[in-house]
Formats: sequence, C-alpha cells, structure tokens
Amino acid sequence: MPEKLRIGIIGAGNIVQSAHIPAFMKLENEVELKAVCDLNEERAREVGGKYGIEHVCRNMDELTSLRDVDAVTIGTWNNAHVDAVLSAAKAGKHILCEKPMAMTAAEAEKMADAVEQAGVTFMMGFVSRFRAESQILKELSEQGRFGHIYYAKASLLRRRGTPLGWFTDLSKSGGGPVIDIGVHIIDLTWYLMGKPKPTAVSAAVHHEIGDYKTKGVSRWMALDTDDLVFETEDSAAAFIRFENGATMAVEVSWAINGQEKPINATIYGSRAGANLDPLAVYGEEAGYLADTFPNPGETAPFVEEMRHFVSCVKEGRQPLASVYDGVQVQKMLNGIYQSAEEGREIQL
Ligand SMILES: NC(=O)c1ccc[n+]([C@@H]2O[C@H](COP(=O)([O-])OP(=O)(O)OC[C@H]3O[C@@H](n4cnc5c(N)ncnc54)[C@H](O)[C@@H]3O)[C@@H](O)[C@H]2O)c1
Repeated sequence: MPEKLRIGIIGAGNIVQSAHIPAFMKLENEVELKAVCDLNEERAREVGGKYGIEHVCRNMDELTSLRDVDAVTIGTWNNAHVDAVLSAAKAGKHILCEKPMAMTAAEAEKMADAVEQAGVTFMMGFVSRFRAESQILKELSEQGRFGHIYYAKASLLRRRGTPLGWFTDLSKSGGGPVIDIGVHIIDLTWYLMGKPKPTAVSAAVHHEIGDYKTKGVSRWMALDTDDLVFETEDSAAAFIRFENGATMAVEVSWAINGQEKPINATIYGSRAGANLDPLAVYGEEAGYLADTFPNPGETAPFVEEMRHFVSCVKEGRQPLASVYDGVQVQKMLNGIYQSAEEGREIQL
C-alpha cells in the first residue's frame, strides 16, 4: 500500500462536503482524495474540481474498479449504502460507511457477509463514539468502574429538527428519527454498556406532528430539497432487553412538543453510574456519595473518526465500530419498527 491512503468518495452530498472532506484534509499527510462519484454528476464534477480530485466517475462501480483507489467513504442516501458496500467489497476496497449501515437488518447481514468474504477493513461511521466524553466513559467502563451496567437511558429529542430532503422519504431513508438519529444514541449507549447481545424490543413510533412550517428553527438539509414527501415517524420510544439481563430505554424525536434534549446516554451500574452530557460520574468515595466531572476538553469527532479509520486500514487493525456492531445496531433499529407495527414485544 502506498504511503498515503487513496480515498474514493461515493456520494458527495452535505455530510461528505461538510464533515468527511474537511476531516480527511486535516490528515493530508496520510490520505489523498483520489476519486469521487455522485448520482448528480454535476455535483461530483464540482467537488472533484474544488478539491483537485483526479477521477470523477459516473457511478460507484466505475469508482470501485479503479486500481489507484484503496478505500471508499460512503455518504449516499441510506438506500444506496448496501450497493456501495457490495461494490467496494467485491473490488477489494476498504470501507467507511455512514450511519445507518442499511435500511434493514437483512441488508446489513448481506453487507457483513460480503465484507467478511472480501477480507477488507470495514468501519461504521458511528461518529458519536469518537467524542472525548464517550471515550472517557468507555475507558472507565472497561476499568470496571461502573460494575455491572444493568440499565441505561438513550435519548435525543429535537423539538423541530426534522431534516429536509430525502430523509422523510421511506424509499430512500428506511425510517425517520429512529434510523437517522436514534442510531447514534442507541449505538453509543450500547457501546458504553459493553455491547451486550440484544434479545427483545418493545416500541412505539408516533406520527403526530408530521410536516410543519414552524419559523425560527434550524434544520439539517440534504443537498436536494425538491419533491419532498413525508412518510416517516416524528418520535419514538423503545425498551430493549439484552442477554445479560440489562435493559435500555430509548426516546428519540425529530419533532416533539417538549424540551429539546441533546444526545445523551445515562448508564446505571452496580458500582457507579454516569451521564454523557453533561459528563458526570456518580459513585462513592471513602464511604460517601461522590460525583466527579471529568473535563473532556475540545474535540473534533469526525477528524478522530477518519484518523482511526485510516490507521486501522494501514495497520490492518479491526476498527472500533465493526461490521458486527453495524448489524447488531441495525437489528435494534428494525426491531423498533417491527415492534411498533405489531404492537407487541418482539424477539431479535
Ligand atoms: N454522521 C452524521 O452525523 C450524519 C449527519 C448527516 C447525514 N449522515 C448520513 O450521511 C448520508 C448522506 O446524508 P446527507 O445529509 O449528506 O444527504 P445528501 O442528500 O446531502 O447527500 C447524499 C448524496 O448522495 C448522492 N447519492 C444518492 N444515491 C447515490 C448513488 N447510488 N450513487 C452515488 N451517489 C448517490 C446524492 O446525489 C447526494 O449528493 C446519509 O446516510 C445520512 O444518514 C450522517
């Protein structure tokens, strides 16, 4: 492998332009942006021109067939993650895949099989794991500071934060806030719990607010926002059971009439508990209740995510967020939708 990892970009939309490319540019001694493709060929040409990218390709198969591309970063709509991963794996390219891994657990399993067969490095873009707060809690958890983590709460409530664009079109997204932002907080909480095997889910999803025209609110925007359709839920609540007896309560919304709550995980262990944001550890010292507040300092999670991916590929290491993790999280997400539809707890 050459000194610099040669990256191909599949899907050059908002997240790739605002987060992936700037993060890769911070690692300019270690990576080179080598190729780009997008369904919107003009967009691919613009991005290619702006960043001096050598190959502007017509589609993902053309890009993955390039000999001078070592790895791809996938930032397409959710419905194309599966094809992009299959194409890259078949061509022997290493893969960084944006969240959610897929639209269904069946797709995720197919992707995992392809990755395993190809023997390439695959990393899920679970960027929240790369926050300093997450890493501090993970380290404490691995040191046994919390004891057995038997209950956790995962929450992320946006009051009026439904993204604009394909996100509300089920055929392109696979779901609403559960699959779009629930994925971040469910994954992170599960990771902090030590990744126990999920066994059952009971959930409800709500379509009460739908489309709205509230003024004075800011919303994430896909790069294409014409022909909007609105088919997705606007909030959800879930209860997940794990093989080790632990449970997780989840609440997530794009739109809800209540206080906005940023991404947060709360974990309750037999020895101590913790909260992600604000970061706090609740324990005992010298026989008294004692709380500590570690200082995470400044963080740049996307830069840390890309740095980790690049070093794992170069050193042949297994990334922090594996294909197995992607499949397990996808099972929980789809379990939430299935349970809500059937109105009962379902086994995973
Ligand atoms: N990690 C995060 O915090 C975060 C934040 C926002 C979005 N995302 C994820 O990033 C992905 C993209 O979201 P976005 O907001 O950038 O959307 P976007 O619509 O701005 O960009 C997606 C791009 O993919 C292109 N595309 C779609 N299908 C394609 C295909 N088959 N081949 C090539 N290009 C294709 C579209 O033309 C578009 O340019 C989604 O999976 C989303 O869930 C992650």
